[in-house]
Amino acid sequence: MEVHFLTIFPDFFECAKAFGLFKVAIDRSILSYYVHNLRDFTKDKHKTTDDTPYGGGAGMVMLVEPIVKGIESIEGTYGKQFKILTSPQGIKLDENLAKEISQKEKLLFIPTHYEGVDERVMDYIDIEISIGDYVLSGGEIASLVILDAALRLVEGLLHNKESLSEETFENNLLEYPQYTRPYDFRGETVPDVLRSGNHREIEKFRKKESLRRTLLKRPDLLLKHNFTDEEIKLLKE
Ligand code: ADE
Repeated sequence: MEVHFLTIFPDFFECAKAFGLFKVAIDRSILSYYVHNLRDFTKDKHKTTDDTPYGGGAGMVMLVEPIVKGIESIEGTYGKQFKILTSPQGIKLDENLAKEISQKEKLLFIPTHYEGVDERVMDYIDIEISIGDYVLSGGEIASLVILDAALRLVEGLLHNKESLSEETFENNLLEYPQYTRPYDFRGETVPDVLRSGNHREIEKFRKKESLRRTLLKRPDLLLKHNFTDEEIKLLKE
């Protein structure tokens, strides 16, 4: 995967690439990571990227010209990108959208600021994505959230297929509870079935717990879940 950021805060992204999943992906040549300073595409000596809105009102609006020039320059050098504008007005990120993004070969993130961007920018992007119904001071963190959620789904990076199929949000269920050592922590012990060695019973326990948790914590997900015959049988036990 190739990823570009067109931003007024390049250092933010330079910092993020030095840790965790991004670093692993870059080191293993699964991710090519490029940061572009939006100010390089401005035309005045102050390198202005925003201005007051036509029609008046509070706040500033990001200029269309540096953004479009930046996009054209990046695409001119690196080829066509799937262009993502981050904004609280966008399509809300979920695991399915993360999966779609994980299948793109080239991504260009454009984090927005201030009161938003000149509407004419919309003609140059492929998708507007929000990471939730709240307003951030800027789209940098949102861009990194989206990339993280997508990158961890890229095959061969983190997971084998089996662990992905059991994790939270797969098939609209939350993942079952997990335990590791010690067996007894201040009187709270690990469920005995997990130490029984009986794989059939362990699988049943986990499936039941997964359904129970989803019901308690995220009943909205169950409405979208396709119950198998086995799950229905388990629930009746
Ligand atoms: N920029 C500001 N708020 C945002 C949000 N919720 N999601 C994505 N980008 C944003």
